[in-house]
Amino acid sequence: MSTVIETDEQSGTRPERRATGRSVLMCRPEHFTVVYRINPWMNPAEPTDTSLALQQWQALHDTYVALGYEVHLIDPIEGLPDMVYAANGGFVIDNIAYGAKFTHAERQPEGPAYMDWFRAAGFDVREPEEVNEGEGDFLLVGETILAGTGFRSDSVSHQELGRIYERDVVTLRLIDPNFYHLDTGVAVLDTTPGQEHIAYLPSAFDAASVAVLQARFPDAIIVNETDAAVLGLNSFSDGYNVIIASRATDFERQLRAHGYHPIGVDLSELLLGGGGVKCCTLELRR
Ligand code: ARG
Repeated sequence: MSTVIETDEQSGTRPERRATGRSVLMCRPEHFTVVYRINPWMNPAEPTDTSLALQQWQALHDTYVALGYEVHLIDPIEGLPDMVYAANGGFVIDNIAYGAKFTHAERQPEGPAYMDWFRAAGFDVREPEEVNEGEGDFLLVGETILAGTGFRSDSVSHQELGRIYERDVVTLRLIDPNFYHLDTGVAVLDTTPGQEHIAYLPSAFDAASVAVLQARFPDAIIVNETDAAVLGLNSFSDGYNVIIASRATDFERQLRAHGYHPIGVDLSELLLGGGGVKCCTLELRR
């Protein structure tokens, strides 16, 4: 006789995962290349293949379209090779777009370019006073904003964010330069109030931040170092479908066990710039 032990992952108490529509902004990597180094993934001496980057990006774009997402495009600007990482272009909730103010001079012109797009699209744009890199460091979970600092966004921007959106902002400190933006160390999987769910890499954070994450998200998926090393956490979820790096196989297994539908894509070329699925995606919340 065998006994079946139900693990927490398979138990009937697991919330039902439901896809809700998404509206996103993306930027074609027409001018993508690596000519400077502002994160450890970037090596200007290593060649990049812009046409392969375009092909891989197109597959991500087409996946979103097939899932029924509303996909908006911002025109790429020559000389701004990192503009493809649209997540850094700002943060948008309640039709309010908080603009980005980049840390590194190489990316600073992207801030106004994205704000122009938000304005033309009818968003209420708030010019940032503090250094921040948009949805790269800010993630909405339920009614709370998780906000990263340590490498890019200044923690003072978290206060600016709280004033603008009148929501709780939880500061998380990143400590590993490989995971320099919050969206490389945390993935928001379910943002439904009452069943908020995330995945994260504990070693990306200082001890106080790990304690905060454990307390708020006791059932979170813990991603292993191998999957994190292909930016597996840098993924995009609609509450059911989760678009992830196809090489993040253990994360894929865990997502299935938690009731999600993972969809793998290969963005190996964009990984040379230090970005993945989420970096290429900015969510627009009207
Ligand atoms: N090369 C870009 C940078 O270092 C990559 C940005 C990745 N974006 C993200 N949301 N993590 O700024």
